[in-house]
Amino acid sequence: NRSAVLKGKRVLITAGPTHEKIDPVRYFTNPSSGKMGFALARQASLMGADVTLIAGPVQLDTPQHVKRIDVTTAEDMYEAVLSNYENNDIIIKSAAVADYRPKYQFDQKMKKSPGDYSVEMERTRDILQELGNRKTSQYLIGFAAETNDLEHYGEDKLRRKNLDAIVMNNVAKEGTGFAHDTNSSIYLTKEGKRVELPLMTKDELAEKILLDVAHNVSGGVF
Ligand code: PMT
Repeated sequence: NRSAVLKGKRVLITAGPTHEKIDPVRYFTNPSSGKMGFALARQASLMGADVTLIAGPVQLDTPQHVKRIDVTTAEDMYEAVLSNYENNDIIIKSAAVADYRPKYQFDQKMKKSPGDYSVEMERTRDILQELGNRKTSQYLIGFAAETNDLEHYGEDKLRRKNLDAIVMNNVAKEGTGFAHDTNSSIYLTKEGKRVELPLMTKDELAEKILLDVAHNVSGGVF
């Protein structure tokens, strides 16, 4: 019974991009729409889970019965995730978090002048790495958007970030990754499972991933 496979489970999902401001009218971001994370939240809720969705700036309606926390920057997302992860059974990080932000932010709009301008960037904190370091019983799933050597980078991230599974999206492929309604992936688990998930809607992909996770988390009840 699909509607009950995650009953009683608490699931934390991150979605969307982050905005890293340099002045009141400019910021750095990426093309994430939040669709993948929202599909995961919708499907997890349909499977009976108690879902918390931490969302960057996106234009999407909150799926039914899902608790949503809106954030803007990578640092906001870090704070929101770290203060909510502990009592969750499953954590899925489908957000596209900025790896760098402007080192200096200006309170007033920067004026342009002739010639080039360089922006000094500093690293943001890696939320997934921190969760991997701290996790106790949580089942931790990462996502990654890559253009090449998917399996190589996937295996590396899985190990380095202490994940239980990772969903690798080849964003160089048609219909895959940022902003599309569809996605295709390679799904890798720490036990060495390697599954190619061909092009399908993000809701279909979310359902497949969650069914596998439910199976692992509940110790194979079906
Ligand atoms: O939102 P959509 O338009 O539907 O697009 C979906 C998606 C392409 C954004 C999604 O499927 C996806 O691949 N998300 C991860 C994209 C990404 O930024 O990958 P990454 O290689 O930069 O990061 C790897 C993992 O580390 C991710 O789980 C990310 O959430 C996490 N991370 C990254 C940086 C950081 N500072 N903290 C993190 O936790």
